[in-house]
Amino acid sequence: MLLVTISFVFFAIVISANPIDRNLAYRSPFVDHPHLGYDTRYIHARLAKRQVEKAGSFTDEHYPTWYGADFSNSPFIYSGGINFTHGVASGDPFDESVLLWTRAAPVGTSLPDQSVPICVAYSVWQAGDLGGQPVTRGQAFTSYDVDWTVKVEAAGLHADTRYTYQFSDCTNSSSVSIIGTTRTFASPDTVAEDVNGGEPLSFAVFSCSNYPFGFFNAYAFATKNTTADVFVHLGDYSSTSIGRILSDRELATITDYRTRIALYRTDAGLLEAHQNHPWIVVWLVLFFESAGSADSNDTAAGCAYSPSGTCFTDRKLSGIRAYHEWMPIRQVVADDKLRIWRNFEIGQLLVRQLFSSRWGRRQYDRDLTDVYYNTEYVNTVSAYQNRSIMGFEQENWFYDTLNDSKQRKATWRVVGQQIVFTQLDESGAFDLDAWDGYRANRLRVLDFLYNNSIDNTVILSGDSHANWASDLAIPNDTTTYNSLTGRGAIGVEFAGTAVSSPSSFGQGIAPLAADVISQQLVQLNPDLQWSEGSYRGFFTLEVSTHNVTATYYAMRNISSPNTDGFASAKFVVKSGQNKLARPVAGGSVSAGALRNGTHE
Ligand SMILES: *[C@@H]1O[C@H](CO)[C@@H](O)[C@H](O)[C@H]1NC(C)=O
Ligand SMILES: *[C@@H]1O[C@H](CO)[C@@H](O)[C@H](O)[C@H]1NC(C)=O
Ligand SMILES: *[C@@H]1O[C@H](CO)[C@@H](O)[C@H](O)[C@H]1NC(C)=O
Ligand SMILES: *[C@@H]1O[C@H](CO)[C@@H](O)[C@H](O)[C@H]1NC(C)=O
Ligand SMILES: *[C@@H]1O[C@H](CO)[C@@H](O)[C@H](O)[C@H]1NC(C)=O
Ligand SMILES: *[C@@H]1O[C@H](CO)[C@@H](O)[C@H](O)[C@H]1NC(C)=O
Ligand SMILES: *[C@@H]1O[C@H](CO)[C@@H](O)[C@H](O)[C@H]1NC(C)=O
Ligand SMILES: *[C@@H]1O[C@H](CO)[C@@H](O)[C@H](O)[C@H]1NC(C)=O
Ligand SMILES: *[C@@H]1O[C@H](CO)[C@@H](O)[C@H](O)[C@H]1NC(C)=O
Ligand SMILES: *[C@@H]1O[C@H](CO)[C@@H](O)[C@H](O)[C@H]1NC(C)=O
Ligand SMILES: *[C@@H]1O[C@H](CO)[C@@H](O)[C@H](O)[C@H]1NC(C)=O
Repeated sequence: MLLVTISFVFFAIVISANPIDRNLAYRSPFVDHPHLGYDTRYIHARLAKRQVEKAGSFTDEHYPTWYGADFSNSPFIYSGGINFTHGVASGDPFDESVLLWTRAAPVGTSLPDQSVPICVAYSVWQAGDLGGQPVTRGQAFTSYDVDWTVKVEAAGLHADTRYTYQFSDCTNSSSVSIIGTTRTFASPDTVAEDVNGGEPLSFAVFSCSNYPFGFFNAYAFATKNTTADVFVHLGDYSSTSIGRILSDRELATITDYRTRIALYRTDAGLLEAHQNHPWIVVWLVLFFESAGSADSNDTAAGCAYSPSGTCFTDRKLSGIRAYHEWMPIRQVVADDKLRIWRNFEIGQLLVRQLFSSRWGRRQYDRDLTDVYYNTEYVNTVSAYQNRSIMGFEQENWFYDTLNDSKQRKATWRVVGQQIVFTQLDESGAFDLDAWDGYRANRLRVLDFLYNNSIDNTVILSGDSHANWASDLAIPNDTTTYNSLTGRGAIGVEFAGTAVSSPSSFGQGIAPLAADVISQQLVQLNPDLQWSEGSYRGFFTLEVSTHNVTATYYAMRNISSPNTDGFASAKFVVKSGQNKLARPVAGGSVSAGALRNGTHE
């Protein structure tokens, strides 16, 4: 009886759900900050007004059902044709649902005004069953308010299952988007051996795509030449040349941010990557780098230094809003400084913890950050106990989640965050914009892992525009930790280079020149086992019950769209060992400098 009631309620919700509200792009990026979203009751009222004042000469028709088939209140929808301008995308998979995304822009000469929405239908099939009976389908509205973006949650899916999906025009079923493929994760109580049908679960990990500096070949390569199940993005879709032109004006308004992200999403490699895999993104980190904004330290001093006069905080909200519209990401919980964190439990195989450690170089959500003009000052405070890169609330959440995951007997803890964790001594200089600027916080994290015997932690990092593989150990503690054997380490870190942003070793640096620097860094830093600074690329992480394998890929040439790449190094971490398996990288790599290893 109870079951019947529940399913009835569920059914009723589906029928009566307003097709505006079904488009999650209207919502606030943050569950607890509703004012950052659109007031869909107001939008509905605007559409309903049109019933009374039928204006304009564009092509439209009545939407057949509205609020439980109340035809008297049925709005007009545009029927002049749709262009799915930026393909399709999916993201944030759970065990029973995944988000689907598209953009449905009106075509034709009589474009809809503010009172006419576009109606988009979507269907989801079990993979390989395209054209058969969809497992779920639905309709949603979009409008100029959200830049014609559509983001729906496909729910009621099976765990650990692959799906195909497609959008179409509600008024013309032959007008369709390209077909996308996606998947769900195993439910949290699935035993580790059964996750992903017993096959290793594979992630492709990216950071820092910078449009003018090169083609996003890493995405295309990962799509075509690896078997990655899920794409993870840890860092900036950032800005600033190979003739891929960006507007030279500073990003300030929501239109600027929408235009920027729309441009990025025209890259063929990126389009294909979104079409073929669900993405998980540590977001809110993009766009904030633009001409002139290095001086936008208005977080400390009001808006006085903003070159355009647009306050950084306002610009940040515009950027977040546009990003939320354009990316297949769920609403998240954020604190009052808009820090976000979340947790994916994928069977008992692993917990992916994602947190945001930065907003870009000019963020204000963590303590005073190295913005170059104040490096000296940051240097003196980098060891203070009361500095937290994560924010104390997020830091506590992080420890709780680590504890929980141990309790839950998750085999692996994969921690995705933006910046390099391991100490990188560059002949006495440190990147204070990384964890090296937050030594006390780093030590608390390491202490927590050691003190609570938390095994199998794998930290993933981006942002540095170079490749690094390290054992996790207390910096400079060569008593507990042995650099050659890895004894005494408490986990590993894999930090990946940029998709296209220039190398931190010097823009366009050749492999041989970069290796000279890498050799020095490996010698200076005992925890660091591999360093590579020339190639742009990404890495994959294959997770099985017995081990985690990280394979780094290098793209040979990003000045044209191509998939010319190679595996530069491969690392194994065996369950329970908490270190890179020896010999590290099997004793040899195809690029970069390996401690006690050879270069093929
Ligand atoms: C559809 O959008 C694409 C991408 O923006 C554009 O190249 C194409 O011309 C558009 N087609 C129509 C019919 O508007
Ligand atoms: C429906 O869409 C198809 C494919 O875009 C197009 O060829 C056809 O003309 C459209 N039909 C109408 C009635 O607009
Ligand atoms: C990557 O895949 C593409 C398409 O299958 C193929 O043409 C290309 O040769 C592959 N590249 C490498 C380096 O294997
Ligand atoms: C902000 O930046 C300006 C220009 O670089 C600098 O002169 C000023 O001291 C900075 N203000 C604060 C509060 O850090
Ligand atoms: C942080 O700690 C330092 C050194 O102990 C101290 O000088 C400073 O006042 C503290 N700052 C805050 C905000 O508590
Ligand atoms: C984590 O668990 C340990 C014991 O299992 C406990 O002592 C510690 O207080 C816990 N920490 C947090 C932050 O929950
Ligand atoms: C870890 O243990 C050490 C030594 O017992 C203690 O000083 C430290 O506060 C502990 N740290 C954490 C984060 O639990
Ligand atoms: C580790 O040693 C180096 C070299 O002496 C020093 O510069 C750095 O501050 C030390 N790091 C920590 C965390 O103490
Ligand atoms: C990693 O584990 C898989 C099975 O889960 C196994 O097939 C593979 O050989 C292992 N690799 C290494 C290097 O131990
Ligand atoms: C990269 O490709 C471009 C275009 O195909 C070519 O002009 C250039 O010489 C290549 N660069 C290298 C270093 O091979
Ligand atoms: C260094 O690497 C070689 C070859 O992989 C290995 O035989 C040797 O044991 C390693 N030395 C140490 C001290 O680990």
